[in-house]
Amino acid sequence: MIELKTEGELAVLREAGRFVARVLQALRRSAAVGTSLLELDEQAADLISDAGAKSSFLHYHPRFAPSPYPAVLCTSVNDAVVHGIPTDYRLRDGDLLSVDFGASIDGWHGDAAISFIVGTADPADEKLIETTERGLAAGIAQLEPGNKLGDVSHAVGVVGRGAGYGLLADHGGHGVGRAMHEEPHVPNEGPAGQGIGLRPGMVLAIEPMFVAGGRDDYRYGEDGWTLFTVDGTRAAHVEHTVAVTEEGPRILTAL
Ligand code: MF3
Ligand code: CO
Repeated sequence: MIELKTEGELAVLREAGRFVARVLQALRRSAAVGTSLLELDEQAADLISDAGAKSSFLHYHPRFAPSPYPAVLCTSVNDAVVHGIPTDYRLRDGDLLSVDFGASIDGWHGDAAISFIVGTADPADEKLIETTERGLAAGIAQLEPGNKLGDVSHAVGVVGRGAGYGLLADHGGHGVGRAMHEEPHVPNEGPAGQGIGLRPGMVLAIEPMFVAGGRDDYRYGEDGWTLFTVDGTRAAHVEHTVAVTEEGPRILTAL
């Protein structure tokens, strides 16, 4: 069942989303050559406790995972696509880092992710990130009452395929609300005009994950969580939590 949120609930979701956006902005500033992924995770954990918020990720244990998630951030470097567990790895010049962060306030969740280059950027990585952001924007633009879920998937997929990137099979966005993961699943590719109709009060996380080498398959790392590209090429991941409203899409995880 897809729960429609009231304006009052959307206001709390916006508070959670704004907090998530602020933390991601702070982490982007901190992530320099030599910064460790665990330091970023500690910084985010401190910001959560300062705000009286709650991590959406820590101890999260979905069916697909072998163990409860051990951190408040996902930090996915280079050929790690998503769900990278922060380690003592220190960022190097030219690394492509994706940071995914979720938190709840008064039980309502926000979920968002950014990708960026640490230090000197390779133009191919810049293009990969910009295209992934363009896929996200294209998906968000479809979040209008009366459109179908397939319109969102189609818009994201066309941008990724158009650039020759892979789309990470079986992974995509999701509903957000009192739980971080709610129905419906939002594929990052699919036929337009199909699937459920979008209605005001629906809240969806849109999250394109594009793979530079063009392949859709992936492998799990030894931690059982991290998804890696199979060909070793880099991947980017960006995400916003967005409400469908009468006035169109409202990005809840904007600053
Ligand atoms: N944005 C990610 C997702 O929806 C958040 C994963 S949280 C984790 O898949 F705890 F499962 F890693
Ligand atoms: Co998500």
